[in-house]
Amino acid sequence: MEICIYRAYEEMSRAAAQEVADVLNAKPNAVLGMATGSTPLGVYQQLVKMHTRGEIDFSHVTTFNLDEYVGLPITHAQSYHRFMHENFFRHINIPPQNIHIPSGTTTNYRAFCDWYEKRIEEAGGIDLQILGIGSDGHIAFNEPGSSLSSRTRLKTLAKQTIDDNARFFDKPQDVPIYAITMGVGTILEAKQILLLANGANKAQAVAEAVEGPVTSMITASALQMHPSVRAFFDEAAAAKLKMREYYDWIQFHKPGAPRV
Ligand code: F6R
Repeated sequence: MEICIYRAYEEMSRAAAQEVADVLNAKPNAVLGMATGSTPLGVYQQLVKMHTRGEIDFSHVTTFNLDEYVGLPITHAQSYHRFMHENFFRHINIPPQNIHIPSGTTTNYRAFCDWYEKRIEEAGGIDLQILGIGSDGHIAFNEPGSSLSSRTRLKTLAKQTIDDNARFFDKPQDVPIYAITMGVGTILEAKQILLLANGANKAQAVAEAVEGPVTSMITASALQMHPSVRAFFDEAAAAKLKMREYYDWIQFHKPGAPRV
């Protein structure tokens, strides 16, 4: 895992958007894995700016979102369908048929999840997966205890996640209890992964994910098993990393490193 620490959220978001742009420049028909929540908002804003300036084109891009709440209609203000359209898709030129977001209103969850996995495979797999991290160490909605080889499925949200996400809803009781989520195994098949975290409330989860043992209790720790993860953190999220000096040392010496 390559760790890059930025002074502020905006700087981290710009660097992450540049990672996405680099993938699209190398492969205009790339398959992107998308996350929702407050963490990737800045990346989406930067990508929209780059698109408006004519620097990136999404006309051949395909996307797969990580997750969706069960029971919210796609028009609900807090559905991840609505989030993605409002914050990203409606501002870029991606063909609507290339967008995939798990259904939170299907009548057959098992069949839907199998179909979603198959669609990812048919698209050639995910080239770059963007991830946030929950304060309980989850990636997507793979809560503590999730199998590290899990696939897309219906999942019960942890109390911690419901409490964390209550800020987006009128009342805590309005937060859905179930979600459809890509599995840890699904995520680990992405060719490249970009893990993002900002804010002090992520510091403990980040430290455990990056420097702790690989455990299903912190599903983000499974990323240690992936050969191509770049982790971008702001200072607050990086505050509990024990090897901080080493990560800075690596970044400092990078420009002069022998070409591989
Ligand atoms: C959302 C997702 C979640 C979030 C995580 C952090 O699609 O997969 O794992 O990334 O809950 O959420 P924020 O960014 O709101 O702190």
